[in-house]
Amino acid sequence: MDKILVLDFGGQYNQLIARRVREQHVYAEIKAYNRVRVDDIKKEGYRGIIFTGGPNSVYDPSSPHYDAEVLNLKIPVLGICYGDQLIAYMKNGKVSSAENSSEYGRTDLTVTESELFEGVAKESVCWMSHNDYISEVPNGFRIIATTPKCPCAAMEDKQNRIYGVQFHPEVTHTQFGKEILHNFVIKICGCKQDWRMDSFIESTVERYKKELAGKKVLLALSGGVDSSVAAVLLDKAIGHNLHCVFVDHGLLRKNEGDLVEKTFKDRFRLNLIRVNAQERFLNKLAGVSEPEQKRKIIGEEFVRVFEEEARKIGNLDVLAQGTIYPDVVESGKEESAVIKSHHNVGGLPEDMLFESVVEPLRDLFKDEVREVGRTLGIPAEFVDRQPFPGPGLAIRVIGEITQEKLEILKDADLIFREEIKKNGLESIANQYFAVLTGVRAVGVMGDARTYGYVVALRSVTTDDFMTAEFSRIPYDVLETVCGRIINEVAGVSRVVYDITSKPPGTVEWE
Ligand code: XMP
Repeated sequence: MDKILVLDFGGQYNQLIARRVREQHVYAEIKAYNRVRVDDIKKEGYRGIIFTGGPNSVYDPSSPHYDAEVLNLKIPVLGICYGDQLIAYMKNGKVSSAENSSEYGRTDLTVTESELFEGVAKESVCWMSHNDYISEVPNGFRIIATTPKCPCAAMEDKQNRIYGVQFHPEVTHTQFGKEILHNFVIKICGCKQDWRMDSFIESTVERYKKELAGKKVLLALSGGVDSSVAAVLLDKAIGHNLHCVFVDHGLLRKNEGDLVEKTFKDRFRLNLIRVNAQERFLNKLAGVSEPEQKRKIIGEEFVRVFEEEARKIGNLDVLAQGTIYPDVVESGKEESAVIKSHHNVGGLPEDMLFESVVEPLRDLFKDEVREVGRTLGIPAEFVDRQPFPGPGLAIRVIGEITQEKLEILKDADLIFREEIKKNGLESIANQYFAVLTGVRAVGVMGDARTYGYVVALRSVTTDDFMTAEFSRIPYDVLETVCGRIINEVAGVSRVVYDITSKPPGTVEWE
């Protein structure tokens, strides 16, 4: 399998570069510049190397540099933004900074003839984000693109197959970005387009078969997309040496605990321990109504239960996690392994030491993880599921939690989910659920006065959950959901729909 190395200098779009290469059906591997030596690059047999952007100036002493020998390996190189300037610097060109030389955002680009620009219009739009610029190209290079402010928006040393672009071909705002990356990866590097998700699965399984041979690995399975996909993938590599612990804290949606057990234990035959800790969590939460305190109690109790189970299994060597790329970015790269172990399993006790942490999905975006999941045969209800918070229904029962309130909420929530699905509204409802407000209201059913709970329906339309709008669910669907909840769920007298955006609201009520 041909592969490309994305040499990471710390820019913000690095993973996107790898993703764009993978979209060409060529495997791309990201390695931090300070974690890979030129000798390693030689051994790995990459067909091409892409230097990523970075936040620095090449003359800043703290900026990332790299052994210039990498440009003599006879492997094609493409530098992007900082990577472009780094090539100029390594090859004794000149990088300058001038007032007014910065360019941010959409910029007009003019290209000349080059293999890199085959199929690219002479005039187009690119995406820029830089202060410094290349004021003199190194010997052997020629300028192949300009913008109104940038005398060298791209350069090439055709003979040695070294290229640099000041703009970002990986972002969609660069009109011909896809063509440019295609030209580099396929035409210049000569990669075969034979990489598919199957190949990712195959190579990952092979890798962990070797790396984890004879090791006992622990994974906290939540039933969420990421941990489910990581579990099935690692099970293929090491089988019963993978110990999956699923803590059912009783705060999951209706029948979810059973579904997780049935799917992963019975169907996928994972080595899965389900811990029924429902009562334990309810006892700890009794009388607590403050949201952050609920979260804290659940987090702590989760660790305790998890730790007890891990000790029962005994002699564990490795912790496996379903960390995906956006988690890595959120946590800050170097720290990510540590931070995520806390985030995922709620904070591991300090005396529970593992030799290492494995994160098989660390390079993938969510939709790629879903594709891996589908390829592995994991059912849609897991692969396509909406996000679900770790503290679960505890933060959707407003105020004090009781078993009775949980049951009401689970039933109401199931009805809402069924109707969204039945009416094909998943594309506008990215996260949708019921909330049991602490409020009671008067109603009338038959001839009798009722005094039951108010259930709120929450559904948001969003890409990233950082901002969100309420979903425009048709009134007749809302009417059906309301009718069903009042009729089918005892103890509810009213249903309301939450029309608050985020901000000012949050997705969850607590
Ligand atoms: P908010 O309510 O902050 O939610 O707008 C944004 C996204 O985060 C999820 N969420 C959580 N996830 N633990 C989690 O694992 C939590 O404590 C938590 N609180 C909110 C929420 O479901 C939504 O997808």
